[in-house]
Amino acid sequence: MPRTPREASEAVVQNFALHAFPARITKRALSWLATGWLGTASMHLFVILTVTGLVLMFLYVPSVDRAYDSVKDLQYVVAFGSWIRGTHRIAAHLMVVAVVLHLVRVFLTGAYKREGPPGSFRPMNWWLGLALLLLTFGLSFTGYLLPWDQLAYWAVTVGTQIAAAAPLIGEDLRGLLLGGTTVGQSALIRFYVLHCFVLPMATIFLVSWHFWRIRKDGGLAVADRVGDAVKARAKALPPKPGKTYTLMGSTEGGTVQVETPVALMEEESESSVPHVVRRGFVVFLVTFALCSLLGLLLHAPLEEAANPAVTPNPAKAPWYFLWLQELVSILTFRIGDTVIDGTLIGGILLPGLIVTVLAAWPFLDRSPAAAAGVWFHRTRRRQNVIFLVLLLAAVVLTIIGTFFRGPYWGWVWPWDPSSPVHTFF
Ligand code: HEM
Repeated sequence: MPRTPREASEAVVQNFALHAFPARITKRALSWLATGWLGTASMHLFVILTVTGLVLMFLYVPSVDRAYDSVKDLQYVVAFGSWIRGTHRIAAHLMVVAVVLHLVRVFLTGAYKREGPPGSFRPMNWWLGLALLLLTFGLSFTGYLLPWDQLAYWAVTVGTQIAAAAPLIGEDLRGLLLGGTTVGQSALIRFYVLHCFVLPMATIFLVSWHFWRIRKDGGLAVADRVGDAVKARAKALPPKPGKTYTLMGSTEGGTVQVETPVALMEEESESSVPHVVRRGFVVFLVTFALCSLLGLLLHAPLEEAANPAVTPNPAKAPWYFLWLQELVSILTFRIGDTVIDGTLIGGILLPGLIVTVLAAWPFLDRSPAAAAGVWFHRTRRRQNVIFLVLLLAAVVLTIIGTFFRGPYWGWVWPWDPSSPVHTFF
């Protein structure tokens, strides 16, 4: 029974924490470098987005006549409105970055590999993660439209034009998303409901499943190696007196001596409360401080109200899709009088292929069990290099699309006075 308010609050925290985490966690899984705590940062960003988003919902009106003005009021009139909006927007961008970096960490450490303790199946968590990645893009993309300014309107117009290029279902998909062929009131309300309810609920469900799988898979992959090493050391150790059980003296004969890997694990591990809780809290504080500071210093953009009659040149997709828009432009070329349209290849087939290959990767990766949970294991060198080169190519294309593209998608230098100052924040 807790005797003081402090003990009572500790009991609540410990009870929750001990259901979410195992009682003990290996020192390696706890270290900052093993995982970068990027999954935890992604989760905290989602929490920050949910809380700030709820505040924004009190003032935002999802109607084409009022959406822009309600965001303008939030930005310039409502007390702390610009800060809340800025924090929400920067957290959305950072969540895309954190989730992608978390995927990169999981890939480079081979933490999706099938090998693990008996009963574990880590590819499942990799697939759940891929679904979460798509949900993160979906959340960000649907939120992009809501301010109903020129930036929002045309980014979504470009994005949904790319989706419409999908064979067979493309046009229907765009119709379903927009409630018509152009971005209008039906699109706004659909994006609003998806952004504020459907996608967050799906994310909460999948994140809970993702966390539960980590426990079901016997903890993080980085901990597998510790277990093996400890077991090997335990075998080599001479027996030494330890704790004994005699079933309270009810059985005859000698006692059972406990000097097992479990006992040795104590040396290699820490108790989850307070160690995991404390680190998780530090990650939260850093994430929150970063978002609110940047939200305060950088002002979330708000351009002119959306105007379907005035097409900005160039019209750009949100920054995380610009590598695809760049690819579409590279793959679109003219042979004589025939124009080869790169939208299908660059905008649909390639991203589809990337997601399919990533999903199949746990079965294509033939490296040994010892490579799971280890950074840059030598048996995975080639696949890691290829992965990093492709990632770098996507980053370079994103930078080009963001800063070096001007009217008619022509090349401009960012410092050129004629360069359209494209703000992606
Ligand atoms: C909303 C997005 C996501 C959240 C909140 C999340 C959260 C987490 C957390 C907290 C962990 C524990 C270790 C760590 O912090 O790194 C973890 C592990 C893991 N995540 Fe995620 N994750 C997300 C997206 C993803 C994505 C995009 C992938 C990959 C496609 C992925 C695959 C995995 C795997 C395989 C593990 C187990 C890693 C191991 O055993 O070392 N997750 N995730």
